[in-house]
Amino acid sequence: MHDVTTGTPRVSVIVGGASGLGWATAQLLHAQGDAVVIADIAGDQARARADELGGSAAARQVEVREEASVRALFEDVREEHGSVGAVVNCAGISRPGALVDISLDDWSATVDVCLTGSFLVLREAAKAMGEGGSIVLIASLNGRQPGVAMGAYCAAKAGVLMLTEVAALELGPRKIRVNSVSPGFVPTPLTAGASLVPGLVEDFVENIPLGRAGNPDDVANAVAFLLSEQASWMTGASLDLNGGAHTQRYPNVLQHVAAMAAATSPAS
Ligand SMILES: NC(=O)c1ccc[n+]([C@@H]2O[C@H](COP(=O)([O-])OP(=O)(O)OC[C@H]3O[C@@H](n4cnc5c(N)ncnc54)[C@H](O)[C@@H]3O)[C@@H](O)[C@H]2O)c1
Repeated sequence: MHDVTTGTPRVSVIVGGASGLGWATAQLLHAQGDAVVIADIAGDQARARADELGGSAAARQVEVREEASVRALFEDVREEHGSVGAVVNCAGISRPGALVDISLDDWSATVDVCLTGSFLVLREAAKAMGEGGSIVLIASLNGRQPGVAMGAYCAAKAGVLMLTEVAALELGPRKIRVNSVSPGFVPTPLTAGASLVPGLVEDFVENIPLGRAGNPDDVANAVAFLLSEQASWMTGASLDLNGGAHTQRYPNVLQHVAAMAAATSPAS
């Protein structure tokens, strides 16, 4: 896309853009003509991705849990590119564990990356944007649908949904739109562990009325739409991207893991 006032390519920063949903989004925005900056804790991978895109694509290393790192990212992008038109935060992790068992470290790591990281990206992006811009945060089906052993992740993603709404309220007068997307199950490095548990992926798919898992392009297409002028009257919204899974139930991950452990124990 091009900046409507200057006619130059829109500068888009994809945080967590070196893998999975973020990488698919970076590829799509680049194909649409944006000047894409891929920012990720995996700096080498981000650079390799930017090289793969070529053209005006650039890479930065960023740790979304660190205030100074996120601030430096947006200050540098603004200095180097002159503006920041669109920002997507895809950085996320999940450290599962039942609420009575999960360690404070695992709880904090999940909440710090998914929720506090979203806040820091949002705050620094809004500062760098000035007047006008569009921000998309990646929330999750788990922001509205609970999952056993997913307490930290569910709570963090529910927080991202409300953060989206408050940000839309506060930033609307500056013509900065803030929306989120809430994907269901999409095979990526983040969810790769699911395929190691017999029956778990099948259980996810059974609970999807459209009968298939998502793919990264399903998410990238929705993000690109939210960032575009076609969504110019949308802010404070979240798009459910889950094949209808929000109408069903979330698989009980612990039951599947317990069944696997029982099947592989020496006594069985
Ligand atoms: N894949 C799914 O099924 C699914 C479903 C719902 C929501 N999501 C969310 O979508 C987002 C992207 O997930 P994905 O599936 O593409 O996972 P992924 O692991 O493929 O990509 C996540 C990226 O975030 C980066 N990252 C992690 N911690 C970071 C940090 N502290 N600072 C900066 N970057 C960091 C990783 O290096 C990686 O490149 C996450 O927020 C995830 O919670 C994914």
